[in-house]
Amino acid sequence: MKSIFQLLSTVSLLKVGVIEADSNNTSTWPDPEPCSGNCSAIHDPSVVRRADGTWFRFSTNGNIAIASAPNLTGPWEYQGAMLPNGSEIQVIENQEIWAPDVFLVDDTYYAYYAVSLVGLQTSDIGLATSDTLEAGTWTDQGSLGLPKSNSYNLIDPNLFRESSTAPFFMSFGSAWNGIYQTQLSSPPDSESDSNGTSPNNIAYNSTHPVNGSGPAIVEGSFQFWWLQGGTKYYYLFFSSGACCNLPGNLAAPGDEYKIMVCRATSPTGPFSDQAGKSCLDGNGGTLVLGSHGENVYAPGGQGVIFDEDAGRIALYYHYVNPQIGYAFNDFQFGFNYLDLSSGWPVVVS
Ligand SMILES: *[C@@H]1O[C@H](CO)[C@@H](O)[C@H](O)[C@H]1NC(C)=O
Ligand SMILES: *[C@@H]1O[C@H](CO)[C@@H](O)[C@H](O)[C@H]1NC(C)=O
Ligand SMILES: *[C@@H]1O[C@H](CO)[C@@H](O)[C@H](O)[C@H]1NC(C)=O
Ligand SMILES: *[C@@H]1O[C@H](CO)[C@@H](O)[C@H](O)[C@H]1NC(C)=O
Ligand SMILES: *[C@@H]1O[C@H](CO)[C@@H](O)[C@H](O)[C@H]1NC(C)=O
Ligand SMILES: *[C@@H]1O[C@H](CO)[C@@H](O)[C@H](O)[C@H]1NC(C)=O
Ligand SMILES: *[C@@H]1O[C@H](CO)[C@@H](O)[C@H](O)[C@H]1NC(C)=O
Ligand SMILES: *[C@@H]1O[C@H](CO)[C@@H](O)[C@H](O)[C@H]1NC(C)=O
Repeated sequence: MKSIFQLLSTVSLLKVGVIEADSNNTSTWPDPEPCSGNCSAIHDPSVVRRADGTWFRFSTNGNIAIASAPNLTGPWEYQGAMLPNGSEIQVIENQEIWAPDVFLVDDTYYAYYAVSLVGLQTSDIGLATSDTLEAGTWTDQGSLGLPKSNSYNLIDPNLFRESSTAPFFMSFGSAWNGIYQTQLSSPPDSESDSNGTSPNNIAYNSTHPVNGSGPAIVEGSFQFWWLQGGTKYYYLFFSSGACCNLPGNLAAPGDEYKIMVCRATSPTGPFSDQAGKSCLDGNGGTLVLGSHGENVYAPGGQGVIFDEDAGRIALYYHYVNPQIGYAFNDFQFGFNYLDLSSGWPVVVS
């Protein structure tokens, strides 16, 4: 083999490097990095680091749980709810508030959230703002006013802006036709009028899960950009599969939640995977992190952030530790570092 590799061109050698760092090679996935303090009952986390170095973590629980810590590793301390009185949006009785996404715009933190209930397609995306991130400082701004549609579900919002002068893009969605993206106005408190076309489908998986009644779920998108080898790549991370089943009703192995990625050279796509498959109509998506070992099952609800303490890129997520349990309050907060040097994210220790 070695002599064959020696004959390869520089370009092919680069490809060999990519294969060696295959994110689909489960034996390379390390355990989650340590987490101290309040690391449980976490779903769909969104993590931001304030200018003073304090980390804040928002997650689905009641009216959105806020926790803070001096370090991404903790100790995490629960601070209270983001919207103690709920949202002014009403979509259905017994509605829930899900999947916060927090982003700094000039001097204001924007927190997008979904209002929904399991199975509901007439969900909505709302906005709350704060100057400090602290519990007790959030003002609900209500609905963003994105158009409702039979094609998608207005949940799992994620705001993306490449620089302080670039346009804002919001991706969202779950089930039905998967992930959509639309441009927002500046400030990002409503859909952009000037680019007021309907949201674009950017990722969809038409494959039916084993014993599943419909196409696979792709949701929880998170956009991230990184300059690698002179090329600016736009990554679309998403969660694929069954998020939250209980023992006795677990998805077929491989169909449980897992973290996938697609990549493009424009923020609006088209996105494709490492094998070159389209993520819109080719069931594309490269596995970044799935169930592994005894302690990590169905990781998802992820985000990506540059950890300034460690000087590394962190992939954070929720997961089930089967040794602890599969119930809502058993879900754990976890993170690992990512190596992007191959142009594709690889989870490393
Ligand atoms: C998977 O990764 C391990 C550890 O780096 C390595 O030893 C093994 O050869 C890899 N397997 C494949 C199929 O690439
Ligand atoms: C831990 O955080 C969760 C919300 O994420 C909260 O419901 C729970 O009360 C917190 N536990 C403690 C001991 O603070
Ligand atoms: C954050 O935690 C890590 C791991 O415990 C540690 O190595 C690092 O020094 C901490 N950083 C700060 C700024 O405390
Ligand atoms: C929640 O409602 C109570 C009672 O109406 C009110 O006093 C309080 O200011 C509200 N809190 C927020 C954060 O809006
Ligand atoms: C419309 O969106 C594109 C990016 O998709 C952006 O370059 C352009 O400036 C936007 N136009 C207006 C008028 O906002
Ligand atoms: C698509 O769905 C199938 C069936 O659940 C699953 O095995 C596969 O990993 C999914 N692929 C992506 C890219 O989500
Ligand atoms: C699919 O359904 C059949 C019939 O109910 C059952 O025997 C089989 O175990 C199921 N497979 C999985 C992977 O759940
Ligand atoms: C990952 O491995 C699974 C199972 O061997 C395979 O079906 C899938 O196509 C692989 N995905 C990639 C991106 O190589």
